Amino acid sequence: MNDFEFYNPVRILFGKEQLEKLDELIPRNKKIMLLYGGGSIKRNGVYDGVKKYLAGRDIIEFSGIEPNPTYEKSMEAVELAKKEKVDFLLAAGGGSVIDATKFIAAAVPYKGGDPWDILEKEAEVEEALPLADILTLPATGTEMNMNSVVSRKSTNDKLAFKAPAVFPQFSVLLPEAAGSLPQRQVANGVVDAFVHVIEQYLTYPVNAPLQDRIAESILLTLIEEGPKVYADPADYDAMANLMWSATMALNGVIKAGVPEDWSVHGIGHELTVFHGIDHARTLAIVLPGMWHVLKEEKKEKLLQYGEKVWNITEGSDDERAEKAIEKTVEFFESLGIKTRFSDYNIPAETIDRVVKNFEKREWFETGDRKLVTLDVVRKVLEDRL
Ligand code: NZQ
Ligand code: ZN
Repeated sequence: MNDFEFYNPVRILFGKEQLEKLDELIPRNKKIMLLYGGGSIKRNGVYDGVKKYLAGRDIIEFSGIEPNPTYEKSMEAVELAKKEKVDFLLAAGGGSVIDATKFIAAAVPYKGGDPWDILEKEAEVEEALPLADILTLPATGTEMNMNSVVSRKSTNDKLAFKAPAVFPQFSVLLPEAAGSLPQRQVANGVVDAFVHVIEQYLTYPVNAPLQDRIAESILLTLIEEGPKVYADPADYDAMANLMWSATMALNGVIKAGVPEDWSVHGIGHELTVFHGIDHARTLAIVLPGMWHVLKEEKKEKLLQYGEKVWNITEGSDDERAEKAIEKTVEFFESLGIKTRFSDYNIPAETIDRVVKNFEKREWFETGDRKLVTLDVVRKVLEDRL
């Protein structure tokens, strides 16, 4: 097992009767900014709940945060927060609202000039406004990690940063509110969480059986519960299982002491930049290509995954690896998530644009063993034509 340090200070409040704790969790003297997206929280009871349980508190609102949140929109919130002297941010919605809120929290007290540097130049985040969130969409794991992904329209960028200062103080996880999700977002959530596990599990063996088994059990739970939630997002028990699985997939537990490889995400982000494709769908496109191109390098874990998750025990190594890839694609497609360029009308020229963006960022060798060269990126995408 590799050396590791584990730290996660996020208080989780999970279930049905949780919003009423907001009042005791946010200090009385705070000026609160409630941040949300296009209005889903007004239809699933979360907005009314916040108003009820924070009645009488000093609170302003900022809405309109987009899916794949932008720097441009976030900076409007930064200006407002400064003007109104806000000192507590409360995000309500999916990963996009929470990620934008993390960036805003870091940008308000940022002293180094343009806060975009936090994303582009990995400028250090020394402090941030305290933040918390109410999660209504199981997918990203952002509710229990210190990561944030923000896009900048004018420069075709979608970049991530991480900083301990933006760990939420607490996260309220509401499976009931997620019951209003459309099927498309449920499917996205299952696949995003699935690929998060894969990026921390399907690398190469380092003799870490506990981490492997936790990862495999999250994958098995997603395979079991995902289709139930997809069929009926209002199935509370299944949604609760999906929600906790998605949180566990990216809260730092399964990556402790093992290698990680986030190159499927890196390439996927570029497909969102150029074509606006939902995050999870980009992962479903890229992952099979990555496995085809790096089949030899990832073979040991691919075979382990095939056996433990899909029960594939017969055939040559190559046949079993191929079967594991096939089963994964079938699973994604059973949730209505397609896996090829043609399914999304992505032209072949996009491959050059993605490679150019990698070049611009000087991402010449990414992945767990620096195996993902520009040539590999190209081949992965060519596999998906
Ligand atoms: O804007 P509103 O009206 O709230 O509608 C949202 C949005 O249109 C809607 N929605 C959310 N909860 C709902 C609901 N609709 C009905 N009922 C509900 N209960 O769903 C739509 C999508 O929301 P969004 O927040 O964009 O989805 P998701 O949670 O999948 O977040 C995606 C973003 O997270 C980033 C992605 O790149 C993408 O930008 N990620 C963040 C990560 C992290 N911080 O750790 C890791 C991930 O790999 C990912 O990159
Ligand atoms: Zn993801």
